[in-house]
Amino acid sequence: MKILMVCLGNICRSPLAEGILRHLSRERQLDWEIDSAGTGNWHVGDPPDPRSVRVARENGIDISGLRGRQFGTEDFDRFDRIFVMDLDNYRDVLRKARNDHDREKVQLLLDGQQAVPDPWYDDALFAPVYRLIYDACEKIVQAKPSKDTL
Ligand code: 4NP
Repeated sequence: MKILMVCLGNICRSPLAEGILRHLSRERQLDWEIDSAGTGNWHVGDPPDPRSVRVARENGIDISGLRGRQFGTEDFDRFDRIFVMDLDNYRDVLRKARNDHDREKVQLLLDGQQAVPDPWYDDALFAPVYRLIYDACEKIVQAKPSKDTL
C-alpha cells in the first residue's frame, strides 16, 4: 500500500500525518510506503514547522528529517491512496487529476466532510490537530485498506 498525505504547505499537518501513519503501520508490521506533499510550493525543501516537530516528539515520533515538496500529477501514479486535510486541498488535488481512476484515490482524512484545521496561525491548535490526525490514522491501519478496496 502506498499512501500520500496532502495539505497546503507540507510543513504542519501532512508531515504529522506522514510520521504518525508510518509509526502506526510499522507497529503493526504493515509493509506500507507513506509520503506527504503540499499543494503549494512555498515550503519546498523546508523541514516541518517546529511546532509540528515538537508535538510529534512529545508523542514519541520524530518528523524532523522530513522535507517539504509539492504535489504533482505523477503522484497519482505513485500512490494508491491520497488523503487530504481540507476541502481546499481536495479541490487543488482534484484539479490535477487526469481521469476517474486518479479521482477515486483522493479522500478527506477525516470522516464526514470534516477538515483538519490549519494550525499555521494558532499555536494552540497543534495539540488537537495531532490528536485528530492520530485518531484518523488509527482508523486507517485498523481498516487495513488494500489496492483492491479502493
Ligand atoms: P500546512 O500549514 O498546510 O498544514 O502545512 C500551512 C503551512 C504554511 C502556510 C499555510 C499553511 N503558509 O501560508 O505558508
